[in-house]
Order: sequence, then C-alpha cells, then structure tokens
Amino acid sequence: MKAQPCRILPAEPEAMAQAKAALAAGDAVAIPTETVYGLAADATNGEAVARIFAAKQRPSFNPLICHVTDIAMAEAFATFDPLSRRLAEAFWPGALTLVLPLKPGHAIHPLVTAGLETVAVRAPKGFGAELIAALGRPLAAPSANRSGRISPTSAQAVADSLGDAISLVIDGGATQVGVESTIVKVEDDRIRLLRPGGVAAEAIEAVAGQTLLRAETGAAIQAPGMLASHYAPTARMRLDADRVEPGEALLGFGPKRIEGADKAAAVLVLSQAGDTVEAAAKLFDYMARLDANGAACIAVEPIPHDGLGEAINDRLARAAAPRPETGEKG
Ligand code: TXA
Ligand code: MG
Repeated sequence: MKAQPCRILPAEPEAMAQAKAALAAGDAVAIPTETVYGLAADATNGEAVARIFAAKQRPSFNPLICHVTDIAMAEAFATFDPLSRRLAEAFWPGALTLVLPLKPGHAIHPLVTAGLETVAVRAPKGFGAELIAALGRPLAAPSANRSGRISPTSAQAVADSLGDAISLVIDGGATQVGVESTIVKVEDDRIRLLRPGGVAAEAIEAVAGQTLLRAETGAAIQAPGMLASHYAPTARMRLDADRVEPGEALLGFGPKRIEGADKAAAVLVLSQAGDTVEAAAKLFDYMARLDANGAACIAVEPIPHDGLGEAINDRLARAAAPRPETGEKG
C-alpha cells in the first residue's frame, strides 16, 4: 500500500500541523488519546475512513467511534437525551463513549457507522482533542492496531502493528488509561453497558443514580467489536492461573506470585500494589511484551472484577477465547 516506513513524530506543534494537513488531505493518522492510540480520519470523508479499514484489515461490519471536542460538536450530528447529556457533562473529555441516534442530514459518512442509525461518540483528552479543534471536524478513529490484535498504548506499538500500512504516527508517550473507552447506550432512561472500559461502571452508576444493564451472555453482538476472540496475542492465554506450567510466561497481579513463578519464561506484574487503574494502564503493553518473549502460553493470575478490573477481565477473556482457524483473528 505504501513504500516508505512510517514516520513517528513527537506530539509537538510541528506534528500538529502535519497531522492536520494529512487529515485535511484525506489521510489516516495514528494519534495518542488518553485511552489507547487511535487511527484517525476525517469522519465526513468516506475515502479517508476507508483507509482506516484498509490499514487495520478490519471486518467492515465494525462501526467506528466519532471523536469530538465537546457536546456542541457532537450535537451537529447526534441527538442527546437528557441522561446521555448528563453523562457527557460528567465524563467528557474522557474515556466514555455514548451511542446516540444520528440526526437527519448529518455529515458523518455511513462507513463510520456501518450504516446504523446510531453513532458512537466520545470527546478525548490531550493531543487528539487539540487536533480535532484545529481541524474543526469530528475524527473517526478505532484503536490503531491490526484487527483482532492488542490495542496500542505507545507509538512504537502502533508502528509495530501498522507501520507498513500507514505514514504518520504522533508520539504522545504511554497512554494514561491504557484500556479503551467504556461504551454505553441509553434506552428508555436505562443505561446499557456495551463495553466495559476506562471509566468504571461504578462511576457511571454514581452519576446516573441507577445500575447499568449488562449484556446477557450469549446475546447477539451489541457493540459489534465485541467479537469473542479479540485483542489476541500470538501466545495462548490461560486465565485465573493458580500455578505456572513449564515453559509458560506469567502476567501477575498483586504482591504475591503463584506457584512456579520463579521458573516462568518471563514475568511481568501489572500492579504490585493490586491497583486495577495501574494494571489497566499496563495491560496491553505487558501482553505484547510477554508475547514478544516467545512463550507459547501466558498464564495470568486472578484479577478482581471491581473498578477497572471489569474492563481488564473482559479484554483478557477475549484474548484467551478460542481463535478462528484461518487467517487473521477478529
Ligand atoms: O478508547 C477508545 O474507545 C479507542 C480510542 C481510539 O478512542 N477507540 C476504540 O475504537 O476502541 P474501536 O473501533 O476499537 O472500538 C469501537 C467500538 C466497537 O466495539 C464498535 O463496535 C463500537 O465501538 N461501536 C461503534 N459504533 C457503534 C454503534 N453505533 N452502536 C454500538 N456500538 C458501536
Ligand atoms: Mg479496537
């Protein structure tokens, strides 16, 4: 698709100008957000959005998140019910994505929404927010990894995954949150959790004064990106391990290691202190590092399910799910 290796530029004013020019010209650019790196394109330009799918080799039924500066920008194309507005006011800019009805006559390209009547919207923090403001248009951006692979939390991880398919990566350092945004949808004054993520369900419940509805297990795919096998490293993953088998690498959590840890092929501990926020920020980077180490299987110590533990366990379960037999995953 392209001959030159991709350029990695630090997130400084010069990079802002180059990213803006590339996006205005209809290119896709990898940018940092506070959750994970995104592969961004002008959400109103179909060819630009198509470049995202081509680079990611993503199944085209997967709709993308539209990134905006604020509620006002989102209102140009989406309708906020009062509860969704309250959530946006509480958590934007931040790691919360709202699924909202599209407005008639909106300018979002149908490739972004996969032809749905709804659109997923979020206002990110940092470089991404400044870039959207500079461009003055919403950016469609999935995580900047090849489809089915671990979401990148550093510019180098983007280059490793997509370097041969894109031209520009903006380097904003390691992402702060480390897992993707939480996705919710308001239906009849109830909030449905479509994907656990960087904002803990408990935080949303505290603002909304109600319990979140969760997908029934085995239900049809809600957020179409919720394929069973997703976020997959090359190594197999074995969750809730109580001992390390010979040859396995270990992904640890908390102060105590399980039996056999001293003989593991490699050990990385997500949070020695047992903090799920710290663990979320390190999750994808550590999975990628243990994978690069070459062990056939990664044993994972049990991780609690509260707070960001819900998102961490969700990603781990997908990484451990049985894989399709042929070709790229998810
Ligand atoms: O933190 C994040 O959310 C990152 C950064 C880059 O913003 N983005 C991200 O995008 O994780 P992606 O494309 O990897 O995941 C987007 C998810 C998918 O599960 C997709 O199916 C869901 O959002 N989605 C998008 N539009 C939707 C819609 N209209 N209804 C339901 N789910 C939707
Ligand atoms: Mg993704």
